Amino acid sequence: TKLEDWAQSDEYHNSFLIREDATLEHALQTSVQNDLPDRAVTAAQGKYLKLLIQSLGAKRILEVGTLGGYSTIWLAQGLPDDGELITLELSEKFAQVAQENIDHAALSSKVKIVIGDATQTMKELGPAESFDLAFIDADKPNNLTYFQESKRLVKKGGVIIVDNVVRNGKVADPTYSDEPVEGIRKLLKNLKGDTSVDATTIGTVGEKGYDGFLYAINL
Ligand code: DHB
Ligand code: MG
Repeated sequence: TKLEDWAQSDEYHNSFLIREDATLEHALQTSVQNDLPDRAVTAAQGKYLKLLIQSLGAKRILEVGTLGGYSTIWLAQGLPDDGELITLELSEKFAQVAQENIDHAALSSKVKIVIGDATQTMKELGPAESFDLAFIDADKPNNLTYFQESKRLVKKGGVIIVDNVVRNGKVADPTYSDEPVEGIRKLLKNLKGDTSVDATTIGTVGEKGYDGFLYAINL
């Protein structure tokens, strides 16, 4: 099945299930206009994250990798009025685009962007166990560090989700290697012996192709 077919499949399902949202459309448009990489989650994935947050009754969310704020808006839409989302972004330019998109979506009272290297900024976040959910979607070589810091910051019973852990099956292909793939393998190898979380990978296929979320519960 070709990528265009999966795009058509997402489009079909989304047409029944996902309402047009001018603030999300605006975030995608400004991301293109500012030449941001085309790496945001899909609408179906963003909606899934929003529904999950609502199901959990999550009030405090940590996002690693803001990009243009598209996923940030979806996450924040799942929060109650007194909810809070902290999102970490290395690129000042991406953060500027995201801030404008978050302002435009009238979500700035709930969302705080922290600019800097998340391997450092996460160390300063706290207190421990103060977040209900973490969504890790940044540079893949640092996935293990982001995951370990998330384990400290997310409450017991809270959820940690990591994007892009399948990468078209490349993660599982022993003949393939690149830095992102090695970053994900390092996380998986660590999880094998980690009794402080319980996790599964759920493959996703849609307009961005074949990939997956790693879903973990902090025990
Ligand atoms: C890449 C990163 C992402 O977060 C994503 O969703 C897709 C691709 C990448 O680094 O290639
Ligand atoms: Mg991603």
